[in-house]
Amino acid sequence: MRVGVLTGGGDCPGLNAVIRAVVRKAIKEHDCEVVGYLDGWRGLLDDEKIPLDINRLRGTLPIGGTILGTSRFNPFSYDDGPQRILDNIKNAGVDGIIAIGGEGTLSGANEMFTRGLPIVGVPKTIDNDVGATERTFGFDTAVSIATEAIGRLHTTAESHNRVMVVEVMGRHVGHIATWAGIAGGASLTLIPEEPFDIEEVCASITRRHENYGKFASIVVVAEGAKPVEGTIDIGTETYDDFGHIRLGGVANVLGAEIEKRTGYETRVTILGHVQRGGTPTAHDRVLATRYGIAAIDAVADRDWGKMVALQSDRIIRVPLSEAIKELKMVQPELWNVAQQFFA
Ligand code: F6P
Repeated sequence: MRVGVLTGGGDCPGLNAVIRAVVRKAIKEHDCEVVGYLDGWRGLLDDEKIPLDINRLRGTLPIGGTILGTSRFNPFSYDDGPQRILDNIKNAGVDGIIAIGGEGTLSGANEMFTRGLPIVGVPKTIDNDVGATERTFGFDTAVSIATEAIGRLHTTAESHNRVMVVEVMGRHVGHIATWAGIAGGASLTLIPEEPFDIEEVCASITRRHENYGKFASIVVVAEGAKPVEGTIDIGTETYDDFGHIRLGGVANVLGAEIEKRTGYETRVTILGHVQRGGTPTAHDRVLATRYGIAAIDAVADRDWGKMVALQSDRIIRVPLSEAIKELKMVQPELWNVAQQFFA
């Protein structure tokens, strides 16, 4: 057999661990050759690929990013895109594709599957918002980075009696914000699932400062957090190739409003892509490795149109169509835990 691997969408710690596991088991157990397509769907469309073997993957387990490169390239923006992909894999003698990606890449994978591409998906994103799986790899690393940053902000906030607004990633969901908020001891966390009322945000900060004699607050905000309609304006939005919103900057508006309305000196930190860079945590290395092994097993079984997923600590296969049906939101139970610590 011959299998092609691609990494699509935003990068994330653990991508190389998946590729390494795929290659290892493909060669050792399935007598399967592996090629890597470059820059996500673009490589498949332009037939740009490299051979992958055990030696090429040596030393990559702890390395962040992806050795294959990635992009937010959308093959469906070309009329002949899907057909070119089908022709390319046929001509290259590739029996199937493993697509490692988030919402956009997996939706593309499902669409290509319905058009006849033999494909298996692996859920990746620091946002942890892919459906039908309890966890995506990269999330644990992002939470660890955000938690460490919040910890550092506590001491400087307390020294200066300031409010610190920390913006973390999370376009549609607040998993990173909720987890890092709980782990870092946030005074308030704002997530896309729960539109915020700026008056309540300021009242909460004021309550904390007045009632508890605390003169420092950490407000964690997911980049996709939205104010209640008709309250404050958080600026204009731009979109990527898949029509997905590009965010980043809600914290600046929020910080200015908090300072203006409460009178407490406020500073803003936007963590941005720092959360996606660098070495994966041990948890993410293990999860990514398990996903890689499960994905190449699905390929060997020719079980196409599936995504490998974590459910009840077991790796299973779910239909891609099920995985992309809806984004996974923060569970009310966890959100309730976070709220217990808001002033
Ligand atoms: O892929 C998830 C994500 O990290 C989002 O949280 C964020 O909005 C987006 O990627 C940023 O993407 P880009 O790398 O295109 O700036």
